[in-house]
Amino acid sequence: MRRAIAPAALAVALAITVAGCGSAGAPTPASRATAAGRTLFAGSCGACHSVTGHNAPSRQGGDLLGVRLPRPVALQYAREMPVRHKLTEAQLVRIVDYIAAVQRGSR
Ligand code: HEC
Repeated sequence: MRRAIAPAALAVALAITVAGCGSAGAPTPASRATAAGRTLFAGSCGACHSVTGHNAPSRQGGDLLGVRLPRPVALQYAREMPVRHKLTEAQLVRIVDYIAAVQRGSR
């Protein structure tokens, strides 16, 4: 399923992208948060989703690389997903941030 990118979400994404420049090399707090999000995603969402750009039939939720949602919408989806262990709001934020980071190409 494809959705148009809301202008507000695009503006936020651009602001984050600009803010993220110049942080190559040593792990920054932001990149550590992304690593935490990656682990959480793998554990809670990875059975049904990937963020690689390739859909696998075994992943019923599909690939999320091209699914660019406004942040509040992405968070709401994440809250409503049938995860095995309930996630805290902070964990959901990390997962959504991780997906957004991969979509921006800055894992
Ligand atoms: C048990 C399987 C399952 C798990 C676990 C799961 N999802 Fe999903 N997810 C789905 C299904 C099925 C859909 C509906 C796919 C569709 O409509 O194309 C979906 C849809 C979504 C969508 C909307 C995709 C779209 O095309 O609009 C997002 C975003 C999403 N999931 C994020 C997550 C996140 C984040 C997690 C982990 C916290 C997660 N999901 C865990 C099965 C799962």
